Amino acid sequence: MTDRRHFIKTAAGLGASLSLFTNLKVRAQEGPAPRRPLILCSRGEEWAEKVLRPGWNVFEKGGDILDAVEESARVTELDPEDQSVGYGGLPNEEGVVQLDACFMDGRTHNCGSVAALEMIKTPSSVARLVMERTDHIHLVGEGARKFARAHGFKEENLLTDKSRKMWLRWKENLSDKDDWFPPKDGNYDLEKRPTGTINILALDSQGDLAGCTTTSGLFGKLPGRIGDSPIIGAGLYVDNEVGAAGATGRGEEILRTCGSFFVVEQMRAGKSPREACEALCHRIVKINGGPEKVNFTDKIVAINKNGEAGCFAIQGRKDKPPKAAVITAAGIQIVEGGYLIEVG
Ligand code: GLY
Repeated sequence: MTDRRHFIKTAAGLGASLSLFTNLKVRAQEGPAPRRPLILCSRGEEWAEKVLRPGWNVFEKGGDILDAVEESARVTELDPEDQSVGYGGLPNEEGVVQLDACFMDGRTHNCGSVAALEMIKTPSSVARLVMERTDHIHLVGEGARKFARAHGFKEENLLTDKSRKMWLRWKENLSDKDDWFPPKDGNYDLEKRPTGTINILALDSQGDLAGCTTTSGLFGKLPGRIGDSPIIGAGLYVDNEVGAAGATGRGEEILRTCGSFFVVEQMRAGKSPREACEALCHRIVKINGGPEKVNFTDKIVAINKNGEAGCFAIQGRKDKPPKAAVITAAGIQIVEGGYLIEVG
């Protein structure tokens, strides 16, 4: 019987040699100085050091790119103060935290993901195990939880008091026709339902790429709703010939444009990471009927084989442009991106 992974790896190797010419073209267009190793996270100053340093320490010790990505991804997942990812994440409509994550190895195109996973703090680690220790790519809900349990993950309540109170105020203020009342001083004006996600993309010293996207999704989502983050090609895509991309923001828009795959293909066609991310933002705005129809945002981050990094968002503010952060041997650098629509 043909071993699936052997087949995938062989196919990936064949692809790599066939596309040598394409690689050379991309390199020639994007400048001579490969900057590697490098790790990118889709957040700016506030999280850069905290998230990037643990991954960088793996590289410094000569460790593998997948370990570097996982170390960085777990930082926000394990932090109860961060309400967007992992422990303390944004609960769904019923007040339950359901997490999505995926992992992809550019060397082999192997990938793994979990969705609507409850009670496990680090879905990124579970997604990596789906990639490495199963013959599948996506595991969802109870099946994902059973798989995590089989691998020794501890089941814990992920709803912190801070996230529970946020959910309760939202629930109490949803309608004046139901039976939930807010306390007298408890009005809660949630203009936009938050999403929260983090992308980690890495390039090692051999020029190999990998990435992870992890999220608690959309605040107040319907139970079982799965966003872009665990879907390969949407919330994350990695191709060793070209680069890697990841998305945050309104997942449904990224899903219906195959966002991260689109960005990687734009880089393959010769665009810089920033230009490729901008191209996706234009595409999303276009299919929605123009800027005046858009009341959401998405942010895309990308790196290429040369260690160039870029980001772009649909909405932004002059005083708060979209940002990402990278770490290289030269230290941490903030990557400022552009945006299409100015918001107040
Ligand atoms: N991008 C996160 C989500 O929509 O689930």
